[in-house]
Amino acid sequence: MGETVITVSNVRRVYKTEVGLFKKTKKEVEALKGISFSINRGEIFGLLGPNGAGKTTMIKLLTTMLIPDEGTISIMGMDPVTQHRKVRPHINFILGGERNLYWRLSAYDNLAYFADLYKVPRLEQKNRILELLELVGLGDVAHQRVETFSKGMKQRLQIARGLINRPDILFLDEPSIGLDPVSARRLRDILLKLNEQGTTILLTTHYMYEADELCDRIAFIDKGQLITVDTPKNMKRQTAGLSIIECKLTNVNANKMEALSLLPHVRHVKQEQDDMLTTIRLHTEMPQAVIPAIYQLVDETNISDLAIMQPTLEDVYVQLVGGHAK
Ligand SMILES: Nc1ncnc2c1ncn2[C@@H]1O[C@H](COP(=O)(O)OP(=O)(O)OP(=O)(O)O)[C@@H](O)[C@H]1O
Ligand SMILES: [Mg+2]
Repeated sequence: MGETVITVSNVRRVYKTEVGLFKKTKKEVEALKGISFSINRGEIFGLLGPNGAGKTTMIKLLTTMLIPDEGTISIMGMDPVTQHRKVRPHINFILGGERNLYWRLSAYDNLAYFADLYKVPRLEQKNRILELLELVGLGDVAHQRVETFSKGMKQRLQIARGLINRPDILFLDEPSIGLDPVSARRLRDILLKLNEQGTTILLTTHYMYEADELCDRIAFIDKGQLITVDTPKNMKRQTAGLSIIECKLTNVNANKMEALSLLPHVRHVKQEQDDMLTTIRLHTEMPQAVIPAIYQLVDETNISDLAIMQPTLEDVYVQLVGGHAK
């Protein structure tokens, strides 16, 4: 394993807010309840967890935007609280959505603006900007106004912006949210390429597939607590003995669904509706007992497909955090 570039030790962060319109009462939300993990140079590290888990809070703490209430953080041996000026040149971040770009300026001019902000020497700027636009596939539209860009193009420009200071560590909060599958694929390819060139990446995502494909290691967090940190492969191994029965059903009402979820030996049920077809994933260690029970409950003509599958990262997630969301 390589050198450690990020160390998070027992970090706790509480938000203090006031609620109520007239009679204000103070409310405290413990967003992170004492979290510890570390990241090695060159890793792609994923933070996964349901809404409100504390992922964005963690990223803000790591990028000097928030200060922990307890615990310590080290970024390349520096303390982001007391040494934020020294930390900043080594990192950059892309936090949610399309803010941060100047829509009336061209892609090139946007990057020139940020290059100035990061004090990139004028002589280097042009080459660096063109190189970055090329990397994110926007070379052809370098001088086109950002307002004419699609969401995917804007997000790729955000990546280029995040690289303007050649950061050692890049932080991304849900980089592929709202992107279509082709744009998301493109974005993942860019991140993999960047990583190959040596950039350490920390990202949050809700997409298991993305985490599985991109990340060397994943940390699952839930309600401000770290549940587990491991490689996607090892995580999937945790579900050894577990089978996933996936069935595609037609014309099945809510009562039948409920009965299926109450079958003996069924641990979790996930349901997806796609027009007339309902896909259910049943977690069980006893597929040999569950499958006949399904055939007893549901008329065979209504079962359009039934298969036993290997658990995916999403199934691990359901096991770990119970599949709930705040
Ligand atoms: N500025 C704030 N003031 C008060 N509470 C906050 C603030 N920001 C976040 N919280 C609370 O802290 C907890 C963690 O929020 P955070 O945004 O870090 O979660 P998250 O994992 O990024 O969720 P999501 O997947 O929805 O983005 C939540 O309970 C949230 O309501
Ligand atoms: Mg968030």
